[in-house]
Amino acid sequence: MTRPLLLGVNIDHAATLRQARYRDAGRTCGGVIEPDPVAVALLSEEAGADGITVHLREDRRHMQEEDIRRLRACIRTRLNLEMACTDFMVDFALGLKPDYVCLVPESREEVTTEGGLDVAGGFPRVVEVVRALTDAGIQVSLFVDPELRQINAAADSGAGLVELHTGAYANAWHGAGREDELLRLRRAADLAAGSGLTVNAGHGINYHNIAGILTVPHLHELNIGHSILSRALLTGMGEAVRTMKARMQRQPVA
Ligand code: PXP
Repeated sequence: MTRPLLLGVNIDHAATLRQARYRDAGRTCGGVIEPDPVAVALLSEEAGADGITVHLREDRRHMQEEDIRRLRACIRTRLNLEMACTDFMVDFALGLKPDYVCLVPESREEVTTEGGLDVAGGFPRVVEVVRALTDAGIQVSLFVDPELRQINAAADSGAGLVELHTGAYANAWHGAGREDELLRLRRAADLAAGSGLTVNAGHGINYHNIAGILTVPHLHELNIGHSILSRALLTGMGEAVRTMKARMQRQPVA
């Protein structure tokens, strides 16, 4: 029997929407400060999400530290924290104890040609961060391009997981490069699994290109954000407008 492919829902863009209106509103919980990412996480779990993924970015453009602390306290599945290899983020993760950390690039020097973490180029620092987190019982994943050099470095780093960057495949989906990108993903997944790594994938996966992703072997979990949030907006729009219209009904004047 094939094991079910797990879904980590990346809810960063719920916070992007909140920040568009409430950036300066101080505390981010409760009241009319909406949408609340924690509520979005709980609905995702109720619908079958296997985990919740968030990225605390240096510029705090979407998730705030308080959001992530509240998620840690409230969600019932697994929390996957995406973060850069900075001292601040390592301390934050050690304090928070997410189930998983996925190390992602943030500064220009950490990025490979396609956009994954340059594990091979920044190897000593990656190993240091992987060790600090795994020693604390946190499972570590490395977000890498489907390049053999990066997979080999990931396998040597002590991390137990990789997340294959599917952005190049997603970008090529409409064009002639789709099959080549899928081939790169399949080879990378084979190498990673053969090296003992658990293989996840993410970035740019949507309701159309998911079919190709299913042809990549060894996949354990997909992390998907933008397309799910976008669809939720569309499928929820009718209810939202109808409810507002209902509340706008004026009482007849006596
Ligand atoms: N995986 C990683 C490492 C990410 O940084 C992101 C967000 O960019 C995702 C998955 C989800 O990507 P998307 O929002 O395109 O589904």
